[in-house]
Order: sequence, then structure tokens, then C-alpha cells
Amino acid sequence: MIHAEARAIHVFRERFGEPPSLRARAPGRVNLIGEHTDYNDGFVLPIAIDRAVWVAARPRPDRQAYLIAADFGEEAGFSLDGLRPGSLRGWAAYPAGVAWALERSGVHLPGLDAVISGDVPIASGLSSSAALEVAFAVAWLTLSGREMPRLELARLCQRAENEFVGVRCGIMDQMAALFGRRGHALLIDCRSLETRLIAIPEEVVVLVADSGVRRELAASGYNERRAQCEEAVRRLQRRYPGIRALRDVSPAQLEEARAELPELIYRRARHVVTENDRVLAAVAALERRDLLAFGEGLNASHESLRLDYEVSAPELDTLVEAARSVPGVYGARLTGAGFGGSILAVVQREAVQAASEAMARLYEARFGRRPALFAVAPDEGATVHLHAI
Ligand code: GLA
Repeated sequence: MIHAEARAIHVFRERFGEPPSLRARAPGRVNLIGEHTDYNDGFVLPIAIDRAVWVAARPRPDRQAYLIAADFGEEAGFSLDGLRPGSLRGWAAYPAGVAWALERSGVHLPGLDAVISGDVPIASGLSSSAALEVAFAVAWLTLSGREMPRLELARLCQRAENEFVGVRCGIMDQMAALFGRRGHALLIDCRSLETRLIAIPEEVVVLVADSGVRRELAASGYNERRAQCEEAVRRLQRRYPGIRALRDVSPAQLEEARAELPELIYRRARHVVTENDRVLAAVAALERRDLLAFGEGLNASHESLRLDYEVSAPELDTLVEAARSVPGVYGARLTGAGFGGSILAVVQREAVQAASEAMARLYEARFGRRPALFAVAPDEGATVHLHAI
């Protein structure tokens, strides 16, 4: 397969008869642990991965955006002057939302011609949408000759997705795409937005298995979980008036208030408060290179997502079960929002083959098709290259 970067440039030259004036790259992410905690002001531990969305672009003298999705043979166009939330659907809503958010923050944008190509699987829980947003954000900003702190860009892309596209995502994916570093995971405090780089030991491989399941319900299920967390906070505030988010509640406080919460809301909250503790424990385990403890945390996270948060699926449970049955697999869990998508397994290098085979075999036996399996490496956040020719 031709590399996505080369493909974006190649298609650009073919369609526009000249090289792009810049190319921007933004990576997908795999979240190691800390799921559904970002919108509760909690902790997350993603890695930016060595798969990315590439955008090759040139400015236009007018206010039109003309976009080509090279991997699908699709095209879209819009005017920067007519952008309103909800006015675009499909993949073009992400770049359009970014343009809308940039202009609202006072950046005047030129129109652009752009070709997009990527190797982040779409709708797989690996944040291809945040990668698309961030790639356009850095491309457009560069074309307009402006600079903006990366933290502000992350917030801006989240706003584009929340308000323009209409998905109430947290900020983890955009932060990972902007702040990822090779060889490291990124601990993010989603309240203060402080980040800390955590080295990933060389001897471990992060293996991803994409179930291929795409749930129509994912967006509504996600928004419903957010609403349930908000309800938990409202009820818990009666007993603990000082709390602002589930981040402020300890597991012991939650137990004390259990009788005051409907069972379902209690379980949703229990996932979040225990998951926050698991993230911090996982970081401590990585820092003392205790991969067994790290892996156990991953496994516990999956169980909590499966039973308390109820965002797993039989396909994901099967992949996790198969991975865990192989010696040399430290732990496995679903990654991303859930309802379908991918799992990750943290595996000793020598066990990669056996773990891949075990997952493929059990998955095929139960569901009659094969998962997509690939290793990912922690990589750098977004970059822009001016095309010097
Ligand atoms: C999606 C969202 C993130 C985060 C995860 C769940 O990827 O975009 O903000 O909430 O789900 O952890």
C-alpha cells in the first residue's frame, strides 16, 4: 500500500498540477487506560500512534474550501462564509467545524484546496476524527500565518466537534494528537490540562485488534453516558456540596452515598471513580517497570467498562479473552468509547505472534470473520511541513 503521506501529495499534484504548499500530519491514538474519565475532569493515559491523517494543502485567493478524500474518492466543498453548526454532514463537517472554530476565535482564514489521506482506521476507536480535526487545524493556522498554543488548539478542535459536529466528546483525543511523544504515553489531567510524559518500556508491544464492529448507537450511547455522569454529580452534590465532577469523588465517598443513587447511576459513577484511581496506579506501575501490575490494571479497566459502564460488546470481550489466554500478554482492554471498535493488548515482544493468532482464531470461530491486527508504537503529535520545492 502506498504510504498515506505520499498518496496525499501524489493526488494533490495530479489534481491541482502543482505540489501542495504544505502538508500536515496528525496521529490517531490508543488510550492505554482511563476510559470515559476525560469528560469527568479525570485522568487519561493515551499514546499518539504511528498512524496518522495527512493533509496536503494550498491556500486559495477566495473563501472556498475544496477537499478531496483520496482514500474514498470523495470530494466536498464549502464556503467559509456560510458555516453554521449542523450545516454539513459526514467527514467534511470536521474540517468545516475547525474552520468555524478558528474564525470564531479571531483567526481570519484563506480558502484552501486540500487532499486528505490516512492510515488510521475509521470508526475503530482510534480517533481518526480528532486526527482529521487537528491536521486541518495546524494546516489552516499555518496557511493563515498565525500561531496558537497547542493547548488552545486542542480546546478549539474539541469545540468544533462538540458544537459544530454535535458529538459531546471530551478532550483526550485532541490532546493526544497534539502532545504525543515518541516512546511515551501522555498522562493528562483533564481538569487542569497538565500533561506528563511517561516512558513506555522498550520491551513491550501495544497490539491493536479492530473488531470491525461499528455501532450506529455509539454517539447516542456516548452522550447518554455523559448525561448519567452529570446526574450522578447532581445527586452526590446533595451530600458533598463541594464536588464539581466525578473527579472529586473518592471510591469511599461513593460507597457512603450509594443508597442515595439509583443502581444504574451508582454503577456508572463507580466505573469513573475507580478508573481514575486505576490510571494513577498504572502510571506508578509503569514508572517502576512493573508490567504485571500495569497489565492487571488494564484488565480491571475492561471489566469495569463491561459490567459497570456497559460500553463493551461480545466481539470486544472475545478479543480480550483470547489475548489474555496467551502467556506473555500483560493485559488487554477495549480502547476508546467502546460499543464496538478496537481493543489493545500489552504484550511481550516474543508473544506478539501467539497473541495475534489466538485473537484471530477465537474471533473467527465465534463471529465468522477476522479482526484487523496491528502493532502500534507511541509517536509524535501533529507536525506541519512546508513543501519546499
Ligand atoms: C471518545 C471521546 C473521548 C473519550 C473516549 C472515552 O474517544 O472522543 O473524549 O471520552 O471516547 O474515554
